[in-house]
Amino acid sequence: MPAKGAQMNPDVVVVGGGVIGTAIAWRAALRSRRRVTIIDPGGDADKASLVAAGMLGPVSESVFGEEELLALNLLAVARFPEFNRELETAAGTATGLRTEGTLSVAYDSGDLAALRRLADFRHGIGLRAEVLAARECRRLEPFLAPNVSGGLLAPGDLSVDNRRYVRALREAAANAGVEVIRGKVATVSEHAPGEVAVTLTTGELITATSVVVAAGWATGAIDGVPEAIRKAVRPVKGQILRLRHPGSLPPILTRTIRALVQGRDIYLVPRADGELVVGATQEERDDTDATAGAVHDLLRDAQTAVPAVSELILAEISVGLRPGSADNGPIVGAVSDGVIVATGHFRNGILLSAATADAVAALLSGGEPERQWSAFTPGRLS
Ligand code: GLY
Repeated sequence: MPAKGAQMNPDVVVVGGGVIGTAIAWRAALRSRRRVTIIDPGGDADKASLVAAGMLGPVSESVFGEEELLALNLLAVARFPEFNRELETAAGTATGLRTEGTLSVAYDSGDLAALRRLADFRHGIGLRAEVLAARECRRLEPFLAPNVSGGLLAPGDLSVDNRRYVRALREAAANAGVEVIRGKVATVSEHAPGEVAVTLTTGELITATSVVVAAGWATGAIDGVPEAIRKAVRPVKGQILRLRHPGSLPPILTRTIRALVQGRDIYLVPRADGELVVGATQEERDDTDATAGAVHDLLRDAQTAVPAVSELILAEISVGLRPGSADNGPIVGAVSDGVIVATGHFRNGILLSAATADAVAALLSGGEPERQWSAFTPGRLS
């Protein structure tokens, strides 16, 4: 059912109320004073943006063979602080942006060799990443295990409290007049020249001049979205833990830690309020069951890298479905008159949210997104 007061003939309909859809809706409403409605199925518990850790780490997440995605992620991290400042002002609330960087650490000699190869790759393409000896790592983060063998600091990587950030986006969108309808979209289709129709699973029809499909992995279930995109997007399960410091213990980490522990990669993202987010599994599954094995593996590796983790309170186990894509890159662009897609953000949804909102705002105004988006158009899939 539509929320009370919802617009039934908006200018722009955004399908999906996660971080991407909400950021797009806010900017679309703000920039051009369009009437914007989000259609969101609700069910926040497993929404990828709320399960996420909030790392904004293009350098510490860069891997061999994804240079175009890296260029886009660098654009996104450069844009994020200003976008976030505007957001905090518009929403009247802080999002917990942190600027201390990310420290990647290696555990055994095999992990150190892998980290050194990554350091060579990052230096080779001109990224700022500082190789640190074990004692320098522990000087920065005294709670790291004494047997950590070395590290790599990415000083320009950021993090944000993704839940505060999404809440702020919702608040800012509401303040800009964006309406939210609870509902699941079945079909997007041309309705009349210059008009697109969105049909909900309840049969209700909403028309708009423009429709932006930002439904994450569920984009694949929407009729009218081109087949190549529907096939390219898939759910990738992630399990993640939220730990809390007991009242007496000060935060044990200052910056995001990525740890390679006997070939396994985990991350620990500290918040100023004492929360520590530990993630994440990456599973080719579409269920949202939390499993004992995942909790065990995450805690084992987190404790190996930072032994004091065992003193923390296990506050939450959450499971989300990332919108994976065929080549791990987002899919952003127009697919027909009046229909734009913005999906497939996979592991980078929070990081890419501001840049995606800019790109879609440009498309809605008849302009072109920044050149870094040219490798991520829907056309590459067909
Ligand atoms: N960006 C981290 C993750 O998807 O687990």
